[in-house]
Amino acid sequence: MEKQLLDYNLKVRLPVILFVIIAVFAVTYYTTYAERNGIGYTPEQPLKFSHKLHAGTMQIDCKYCHTGADKSRNAGIPSADVCMNCHTLARKDRPDIQKLTEHYEKNKPLEWKRIHKVPDFVYFNHSAHVNKGIDCANCHGDVKQMETVGQTNSFTMGACLTCHRKPETRISNFEEIKSNLKKGPEYCAACHR
Ligand code: HEC
Ligand code: HEC
Ligand code: HEC
Ligand code: HEC
Ligand code: HEC
Repeated sequence: MEKQLLDYNLKVRLPVILFVIIAVFAVTYYTTYAERNGIGYTPEQPLKFSHKLHAGTMQIDCKYCHTGADKSRNAGIPSADVCMNCHTLARKDRPDIQKLTEHYEKNKPLEWKRIHKVPDFVYFNHSAHVNKGIDCANCHGDVKQMETVGQTNSFTMGACLTCHRKPETRISNFEEIKSNLKKGPEYCAACHR
């Protein structure tokens, strides 16, 4: 009698339990993939600043505001005085512009929430990519169409390496810039220094 019960547990219950565990794991793994990689992260910002309006409709160059993108490691977030080049006049009556002006006058930085981030133990340099003609959109998506910026691409080690190994599959204007482009490094110390 006891042996039969043991057999039943081993032959029927155990496989069923294992199957359920594996299935739950697999489903969770795939359904949370984007979230774990930060894809879709679109935090609410202190002001309703629209890239679609400024970079899309008004076609202000990305580097007018992100001045570090072709010069240094960080692209940089503009301070309020860059905005005030226009907003001392433009839309002064709007609450968000009044808030902006207040920050500017009190010299109080706007607390924009950071979206894209690699861990501290990773070395990433914007200028090394941007100066070779790799467009922002290859890594950040079509920011010109974004009312609020969110993360659209994965920033894992796998994602960096995929482009370093097969740039033609990840760089939209690859044909145009390839003559001046080396392959991105794959050795560990390039990104972990
Ligand atoms: C008028 C100034 C301005 C222009 C032009 C501009 N940006 Fe921005 N950008 C900002 C500000 C301010 C923030 C921070 C608030 C936010 O996330 O919307 C920002 C945030 C970002 C972020 C997210 C930063 C993070 O925390 O990860 C990306 C990516 C970005 N911009 C890319 C672009 C690209 C690409 C262009 C050109 C197509 C562009 N920006 C043009 C001002 C500007
Ligand atoms: C080159 C000029 C220029 C720069 C630089 C600029 N803006 Fe603007 N911005 C405008 C204009 C013009 C409008 C109004 C467009 C419209 O309503 O058609 C506007 C609209 C806005 C609005 C919407 C206001 C409303 O409620 O209608 C916000 C918020 C804003 N800008 C924030 C910013 C911030 C923050 C920065 C700096 C990171 C910035 N702008 C930089 C020209 C500029
Ligand atoms: C090869 C991929 C790649 C390209 C091309 C790229 N970025 Fe980035 N960007 C990143 C990564 C990775 C981070 C996170 C970096 C970190 O955490 O130090 C980031 C972060 C940012 C940030 C927030 C942090 C910072 O550096 O100030 C802004 C703003 C930004 N990028 C704007 C731009 C703009 C504008 C362009 C085009 C001129 C651009 N990026 C091109 C990969 C890229
Ligand atoms: C869309 C393609 C693309 C993506 C995504 C990308 N890279 Fe690169 N990267 C390149 C190319 C191409 C080069 C070589 C450019 C050259 O020198 O011609 C490069 C060069 C580099 C270099 C050597 C130059 C330097 O700064 O020392 C490092 C380090 C690097 N990438 C780190 C990263 C990291 C970290 C990530 C992910 C967060 C990343 N890259 C994502 C295309 C990419
Ligand atoms: C092109 C850039 C790049 C290269 C080359 C690279 N890494 Fe990474 N690595 C990253 C990035 C970005 C992260 C952080 C994101 C992540 O965890 O995927 C990372 C994370 C890691 C982590 C932490 C993983 C975790 O889950 O926290 C380890 C360990 C690591 N790398 C080891 C290596 C080793 C070993 C090599 C050489 C065989 C290497 N890396 C080459 C970009 C790179």
